[in-house]
Amino acid sequence: MTKHELYKKVTQAYTARFQQSPQLVVRAPGRVNLIGEHTDYNDGFVLPVAVDQAAWLAVGAVEGPLTTVRALDIKNDEAIFSTTEVPASVGGWADYPKGVLWAFLERGVHPAPINAVLASDVPVGAGMSSSAAIELAFAFAWNTLGQFDISLSDLALLCQKAENQYVGVNCGIMDQMISACGKAGHAMMLDSRSLERRYFPMPEGVAIVVADSMVRRSLAASEYNIRRAQCEQAVSHLQAHLPEIKALRDVSLRQLEQFGHDLPEVVYRRARHVVTENDRVVKFARALHSGDIETAGALMIEGHRSLRDDYEVSAAELDALVEAAVEVPGCYGARLTGAGFGGCTIALVAEAAVSDFKTHIARVYDERFGKQPTVYVTHPADGVAAIR
Ligand code: GLA
Repeated sequence: MTKHELYKKVTQAYTARFQQSPQLVVRAPGRVNLIGEHTDYNDGFVLPVAVDQAAWLAVGAVEGPLTTVRALDIKNDEAIFSTTEVPASVGGWADYPKGVLWAFLERGVHPAPINAVLASDVPVGAGMSSSAAIELAFAFAWNTLGQFDISLSDLALLCQKAENQYVGVNCGIMDQMISACGKAGHAMMLDSRSLERRYFPMPEGVAIVVADSMVRRSLAASEYNIRRAQCEQAVSHLQAHLPEIKALRDVSLRQLEQFGHDLPEVVYRRARHVVTENDRVVKFARALHSGDIETAGALMIEGHRSLRDDYEVSAAELDALVEAAVEVPGCYGARLTGAGFGGCTIALVAEAAVSDFKTHIARVYDERFGKQPTVYVTHPADGVAAIR
């Protein structure tokens, strides 16, 4: 089998920089989410796939206290930090390996110093979890070299903790869990409360098409935290009537309609998105299982509307891409994917229609916004692994 281009790139750069071959090359994928947006931090359901695009890490253990990481895509930048104590955060990409190291130390586990070369083709800021991919690559490498035997789902939790508490981004568990536990050819339904996972084969003949709007919104992090707070506000209000609930995951639409009328209108709509989105994930999984791709596609379109109108995390560019997508015969459904405010949409498209699909949405987008989206087909890939 021919090696991936980034495998060769990190291996060669490692050898050139450190004058020996790497002990290990790790691949950790990015992801797209088919459905279940902003549900993970509400203890709900998500249904992502790990994708072709991934972070690649060539790595080897080294004598002495220092870890050296060269990031090939980031102006050939290099970070050097002590592996025996908690490294200082200075912002930027190196906070991901440092955060992972911090999370290992918090767990009472001491990773060995490493030399490493990192490259990634997960687009940054596009909502495809480029940061989770880097975290998992390092966590997996340290876990393997140190023979710590930490399970993949525990590595995902460790990386989420790094992201939440070291990097300072208050994300849910979806991105790290799919980068850790994805399965080629399959979508993964994750219960964000129990962390139970179920895998559904993607139907034959249906392509997952990503369209990157090329919009990058700096507001995303602050708006994300506002949405989280609104969900918590809805829960504490509803608990007055439903003392047994712990999260919006536990609330049905009927209960929300019955007890939510005196919530602030905005908070009510936020809660309605989460409650209906959880239901859509369950229905989507059922549709995938029975090969009913039309129903799955319709649920995606409904989900996009809910993100646009109730959760208000879309953008004119994402709405335009979704509208253009569903005009194409052979497109089953489309929606924004990831946190929103910019980034990508995904569509499920009959393979025979992919070429027309790409042409159409690129033309409509260019006419409307005077720029080209990046449109490509991606495939459900395996989660993090050592590549030999
Ligand atoms: C980001 C977060 C995830 C999830 C999505 C929205 O990707 O990292 O945990 O909340 O947004 O579904």
